[in-house]
Amino acid sequence: MKAIVATELGRGPRGLQYLDVAEPVAGKGEIVVAVRAAGVNFADSLMLAGRYQTRQPLPFSPGLEVAGTVESVGPGVTAFVPGDRVLAIPAFGGYAEKVAVSAERAVAIPADMDFVTAAGFPVAYGTSHLGLWHRARLRAGETLLVLGAAGGVGLTAVELGVLMGARVIAVAKGEAKLAVAKAQGAHHLIDAEVDDLKAAILATGGGVDVIYDPVGGALFEAGLKCANFEARALIIGFASGDVPQIAANRLLVKNVDVLGFWWGAYADKAPAVMADSFRTLIGWWQDGRLKPHVSDTRPLPLAAEALELVLERRSTGKVVITVGD
Ligand SMILES: NC(=O)c1ccc[n+]([C@@H]2O[C@H](COP(=O)([O-])OP(=O)(O)OC[C@H]3O[C@@H](n4cnc5c(N)ncnc54)[C@H](OP(=O)(O)O)[C@@H]3O)[C@@H](O)[C@H]2O)c1
Repeated sequence: MKAIVATELGRGPRGLQYLDVAEPVAGKGEIVVAVRAAGVNFADSLMLAGRYQTRQPLPFSPGLEVAGTVESVGPGVTAFVPGDRVLAIPAFGGYAEKVAVSAERAVAIPADMDFVTAAGFPVAYGTSHLGLWHRARLRAGETLLVLGAAGGVGLTAVELGVLMGARVIAVAKGEAKLAVAKAQGAHHLIDAEVDDLKAAILATGGGVDVIYDPVGGALFEAGLKCANFEARALIIGFASGDVPQIAANRLLVKNVDVLGFWWGAYADKAPAVMADSFRTLIGWWQDGRLKPHVSDTRPLPLAAEALELVLERRSTGKVVITVGD
């Protein structure tokens, strides 16, 4: 089969090669998914740099989310049979024609959910839903500040925040990205490059109760200065490359909680919580309450270009790699 392969670390998307590799075999408790689409994530670039939470031995294929059909099932798998349509979250290996993944990391998808939508669904919606609902416990009537609001995870935080009844302030770079956040229901739009971000946030009508931050750096610092009493800051990621340093005294005086959050950890540490979240999200999708936004697709041989779109901040919502016809 064909796959996109990294043979050394530190070369970014340009180091990726489109190669013939051995087909995966479903081990105990695993399924092999014939991949029809794979979601692209900023985290793929961290894995290629050797800076992700987990490290894969070389060579490996990146790719943390896929959609396709079950091709085969390993010993002990009862939840799926060949031919089932699924989305799945392998720990790596999604940029390929096939991937083996634990059956517990796969979810059946509705018959009318296309593979591109399904491939871009789990990381973005899963992260924002578990983050806002399970970790930050966002409540209706609260104010949610979303940084990187037109990105993969940020845009779903906007949409879910609105759905959960929050007043949502979206921060993104430039008018086109802000228009995308607006289309997902954001109530207030602020350009990330505004002179005084703190003043701009406060001018929307007061401080914030939850900060959703996939960006880090100066944006996070400005957001934290706008925290209300008992605000929660959800640490999602550091797309800016700048990991914020937080002065504990600022947390004390406003009774602020800072919440570290790695969604992927729930697949192993608390799978029931993740499954519950997926049930809710897929139900909302079936009810027409979610509008997944995929700005770009590229075929598998052009996976490097797909990842570059994300890293160069030229995408909105998700970028998805298509596999096969
Ligand atoms: N904790 C978790 O479980 C979890 C799950 C998924 C993702 N993440 C993390 O969340 C972050 C975003 O992931 P994503 O897949 O949503 O990425 P993405 O689609 O690229 O979104 C990131 C956003 O960050 C903003 N940004 C600001 N400075 C940037 C810079 N120097 N380079 C690139 N982007 C910059 C961009 O918005 P503007 O151009 O509008 O500024 C961009 O839209 C990553 O750090 C990722 O590792 C964490």
